[in-house]
Amino acid sequence: MKPIFANDAAIDQAVDFLRQGRLVAFPTETVYGLGADASNPKAVRRIFLAKGRPIDHPLIVHIPNLASVDAWALSVPEAAQQLAAHFWPGPLALILKKRPEVPLEVTGGQDTVGLRVPDHPVALRLLQAFGSGVAAPSANRFCRISPTLAIHVQEELGDAVDMILDGGACQVGVESTIVDLSGAQPKLLRPGHITRNQIEGILQRELIVSHQEEQTELSQIRVPGMMAIHYAPVTRAVRCSEANLSTIIADLFKQGKKIGLLIYHTDLGDESNLGAIIRMPLQANAYAQVLYSSLRELDSQHLDIIVVEQPPLTETWRAINDRLCKATSTY
Ligand code: TXA
Ligand code: MG
Repeated sequence: MKPIFANDAAIDQAVDFLRQGRLVAFPTETVYGLGADASNPKAVRRIFLAKGRPIDHPLIVHIPNLASVDAWALSVPEAAQQLAAHFWPGPLALILKKRPEVPLEVTGGQDTVGLRVPDHPVALRLLQAFGSGVAAPSANRFCRISPTLAIHVQEELGDAVDMILDGGACQVGVESTIVDLSGAQPKLLRPGHITRNQIEGILQRELIVSHQEEQTELSQIRVPGMMAIHYAPVTRAVRCSEANLSTIIADLFKQGKKIGLLIYHTDLGDESNLGAIIRMPLQANAYAQVLYSSLRELDSQHLDIIVVEQPPLTETWRAINDRLCKATSTY
C-alpha cells in the first residue's frame, strides 16, 4: 500500500476504514502506528496477523483526549491524572485497570489497558474524527525496527495494511515511555523521551524500574520491547565502546567483511575506505529522531555487519541505549 498525504479527505477515508474494521497506519510523534478500532476484536486480530506478533502481547489504545480515559479505564488513580495532565498529548503511555468491555484481544488477556494521547496533528485529527479508541502497535513486523516515515510502513507491511497516512517524519523517533499505574507502586516499563526523572518529579515518588532480567521467559513477557532482540535490523548488528571501535573495525576488515558504521563521535581519521558511515547527532533527542531511519539505511545496503558506537551511558540517553541494546549484541 502506498502512503497517502494525510489531508482532511484522507483522514475521513481513514475513519471510514477504521469503522469497517480495516487497518490504518498513521503517524504519531514517536513512531508510526498500525491502527484498528480498539472496540472491534476482529479488527484488532488483524493487527497481530499483519505484524506477525504473538497474540498475548498487549496493544496501546490511542485516545483523543484525557476525558476519553474513562471509557477504557476502570478507575483513574491520582497519579494517572497528574501524569496525563502534564504530559498528554505526548509520548507517554499509561497502564491502568481496564473496564470489562475492553476486548481481551487488545490487552493480551490481561485486566489492564495501555492508553495514550499522541502529540501529532494527524493522529489527533484521526482520533477526534473517529471518536473512539484506536489500538496501535508500532507499524513494523514483529521484532523489527519501528517506522519513523510513512515509506517505512510500506516497506514493512506492504498490502497487509489497508491505508497508510503520511504525516512526515516522526519528531521523537523512539516509542513512548510506558508507566504502569495498575499496581500499588508506579513502575517504568519502557524508557522513552519522557524521562524517569521527569515522571518522578511530577509524582513526587520513585518509580520501580523493571529489569530485562526479570522477564526471561517468553510466556511472561508482557512488554515486547523487553525481549532480548527487538527493534533490530536484519543485518547482524553489534555495539562497541569508543575505546574498542578502531580495533574492531580493523579486525572486521581483516576478515573481509563489508561494514556499516553508526558513529557517535569518534574521529576515524581517513574514512575513504571504511564503507558506509553514518555520523549521528551528538544531542540525545536529535540522535533518537534519526536512530531508526539510520539503522534502516545501513540495513538496506547489503552489508555483513553494522557496528554501532556506544553513545553516553547517562540518564538522558536511557531510551536510546535501551533500544540499541535490543537492536545489537556486544562484539
Ligand atoms: O510510541 C508508542 O507507544 C507507539 C506509537 C504507535 O504510539 N506504539 C508502540 O506500540 O510502541 P507497541 O505495541 O510496539 O508497544 C506497546 C508496548 C508493548 O511493549 C506492550 O507490551 C505494552 O506497550 N503494553 C500495552 N498494553 C499493556 C498492558 N496492559 N500491560 C503491560 N504492557 C502493555
Ligand atoms: Mg513495537
